[in-house]
Amino acid sequence: MKPYLIAPSLLSANFAKLGEDATAVIEAGADMLHLDVMDNHYVPNLTFGPLICEALRKYGIKAPLDVHLMTRPVDRLITEFANAGATHITFHPEASDHVERSLSLVRKHGCKAGLALNPATTLNCLEYVMDKVDIVLIMSVNPGFGGQTFIPSILDKIRQLRVLIDESNRDIRLAVDGGIKSDNIAQVANAGADMFIAGSAIFHHSDYKAVITNMREQLAEG
Ligand code: DX5
Ligand code: ZN
Repeated sequence: MKPYLIAPSLLSANFAKLGEDATAVIEAGADMLHLDVMDNHYVPNLTFGPLICEALRKYGIKAPLDVHLMTRPVDRLITEFANAGATHITFHPEASDHVERSLSLVRKHGCKAGLALNPATTLNCLEYVMDKVDIVLIMSVNPGFGGQTFIPSILDKIRQLRVLIDESNRDIRLAVDGGIKSDNIAQVANAGADMFIAGSAIFHHSDYKAVITNMREQLAEG
């Protein structure tokens, strides 16, 4: 198993001081930043585009930027986010007419390519693209909003995906996004996840370092 990664979702950060919040959470021990891009079309919410990614880079953020596209379509934004400094780009298979092409486009730009699976999306869509993905992101809430409750039945899906990844012998991260907190992170890890996206649990706490340290302790205790 690879080292665990904790990726705070900036969706719950203070947008009026995004650079400071991003810096603070990295200094508090986060491995990377998760950027939720919503288009008021694929999901019923609207956030930001590549300019924010570029602004974070210009501000001096060096950490990996994990862009989660909740947009339809995806290809043009893949190129724009890659040019704006993204290191990881994940999209939803329902949002691309040509999933293999979109995954290849992400890698062509030198980024890690991810597929995000909604709670009701089956693992079948991975069957012919396991060699094209670096991350499979399991949504443990329906995409669109921070602060939702983790859907418990997703644990079974994580277990099934862990088997698929191990059987493939490929270097693929199993990420989980939505409702992750200190009190369920170990359970999610035990089901097979190795990358954890958390927004409200981190940014709605006054002490980012305390939460991230607590999450790592929970992961270490198992
Ligand atoms: C939901 C986003 C998540 C969200 C997680 O559509 O993809 O990244 O910000 O937020 P929490 O951790 O609050 O559920
Ligand atoms: Zn996300």
